[in-house]
Amino acid sequence: MPNFSIKASKYDLASEPQAELAEGLFELSLDYLPDIPPVLLDLGCGTGHLSLDLASLFPRHLDCLDISKEMLEICKQKLQANFSNVKWRLFENDAENFEPDIKYDAIYCSATIQWFNELPVFLEKLKKWLNPNGVLCIGAFGEKTLCELRSAYFEATGRHLETKAKLFSSDKLTAIFKESGFKLQDQVECIYTQGFESSIAALKTLGNMGVTGAGKKSLNRVEAQKLKEVLLKTNNENFAVNFSWELLAMIFRVKPSQ
Ligand SMILES: C[S@@+](CC[C@H](N)C(=O)[O-])C[C@H]1O[C@@H](n2cnc3c(N)ncnc32)[C@H](O)[C@@H]1O
Repeated sequence: MPNFSIKASKYDLASEPQAELAEGLFELSLDYLPDIPPVLLDLGCGTGHLSLDLASLFPRHLDCLDISKEMLEICKQKLQANFSNVKWRLFENDAENFEPDIKYDAIYCSATIQWFNELPVFLEKLKKWLNPNGVLCIGAFGEKTLCELRSAYFEATGRHLETKAKLFSSDKLTAIFKESGFKLQDQVECIYTQGFESSIAALKTLGNMGVTGAGKKSLNRVEAQKLKEVLLKTNNENFAVNFSWELLAMIFRVKPSQ
């Protein structure tokens, strides 16, 4: 996992696709929330893209959790500044080790499951955290995400770009969740294009949002220069470099028999 703590202060400016994904997931989830103020959990809340939307619903209770103290601190400042009248708690914890003391009407997890070590084991635990009829709202990055970067990296270095982040097709995700006792209720997906003025700006932004392996540190000088040149092939009339992000927003419920 990248060190989000180091990047926390820069994350908000860099994380356009994550913000877009959080927004889409939030909108999609609204139809699945109870009519009364809900009890909500935001796992891997980061600096609070989604947490602030959730707080704006004036939930009965909002828990936000992140493994990075620095990301959580930024989330806290935003919640304090904008939603001091909402009942929220922050947890600095690994989602995969969390043991909540309440149950939730909706659990959100956006742009975070790509870092989990044992998704099926985690899902098995998480099932018990939901109220009856509760929903699990997942925002994830599909397999087409950063396809331009991966092919440019290969062209520049002859090596495949290595990153610990897992990308999933929506079918694959549905299958993993099904296997763990969840049923897909709804989903939307889209390709979001992020444009940059230059190759350097593109690579720097990826570094600031926590995409590891993309920066020039793992490359020698010649490879880094070649990568910058090859990335310019992704240009369009608006930007010198463009990256695609496949955004998947999915709503799941626990299957009745579980
Ligand atoms: C790409 S950011 C997404 C943050 C936020 N959900 C958003 O939409 O902007 C991923 C976040 O997940 C957190 N994270 C990664 N693995 C985690 C884990 N196992 N438990 C809790 N948080 C985790 C990171 O610290 C980081 O803040």
